[in-house]
Amino acid sequence: MTADSTRIELKPLKIGNITIETPLTLAPMAGQTNRAFRVLCREIGDCGLVCTELISSKAIHYRNAKTFKMFDWSPDESPFAVQLFGGEPDVMAEAARIVVDHGANIVDINMGCWVPKVARSGGGAVLLKDVCTATAVVEAVVKTVEGPGTVKVAAGGGQKNPTPGHVLAF
Ligand SMILES: Cc1cc2nc3c(=O)[nH]c(=O)nc-3n(C[C@H](O)[C@H](O)[C@H](O)COP(=O)(O)O)c2cc1C
Repeated sequence: MTADSTRIELKPLKIGNITIETPLTLAPMAGQTNRAFRVLCREIGDCGLVCTELISSKAIHYRNAKTFKMFDWSPDESPFAVQLFGGEPDVMAEAARIVVDHGANIVDINMGCWVPKVARSGGGAVLLKDVCTATAVVEAVVKTVEGPGTVKVAAGGGQKNPTPGHVLAF
């Protein structure tokens, strides 16, 4: 068997108008997926799409200086997603507009995280228990920004028995 016969051909993935040439994505990871890590995963790991760690929409709303330091991306990472969390549709929409104005190609909405800090915001996986608010959050973001978006959801299991996340595109 030659190396060539074991090669797997991966077809590009489309999210809205964005083509992800290699359909391998870097999962968002708090404290890990900073610019240096994202660039390494793109250049060495051949990730077609990278993502920031989760960023609080409320902190963006309040123009928190520490949060704005997390805006560490630049166009050479394109295409990349910025992940936001929060449970208030208007605040999420405002944060989405701000990250897109700062160059984000895709807004990823966190509906997968169970940690208390995220749950207290009304965002993350708790949105999966409140379909009306979850829908309102997605609608508000869709209405506000032009580019495509994704929602990362917890497939089930809850905090004590988490399962891998799934990504839905809108
Ligand atoms: C250290 C760490 C930080 C994480 N931070 C985030 C995050 O910011 N946003 C998010 O949606 N998921 C986060 N996750 C979950 C991962 O994105 C991923 O869904 C999870 O690790 C399961 O993927 P796997 O099956 O490839 O391990 C984090 C996971 C780890 C281990």
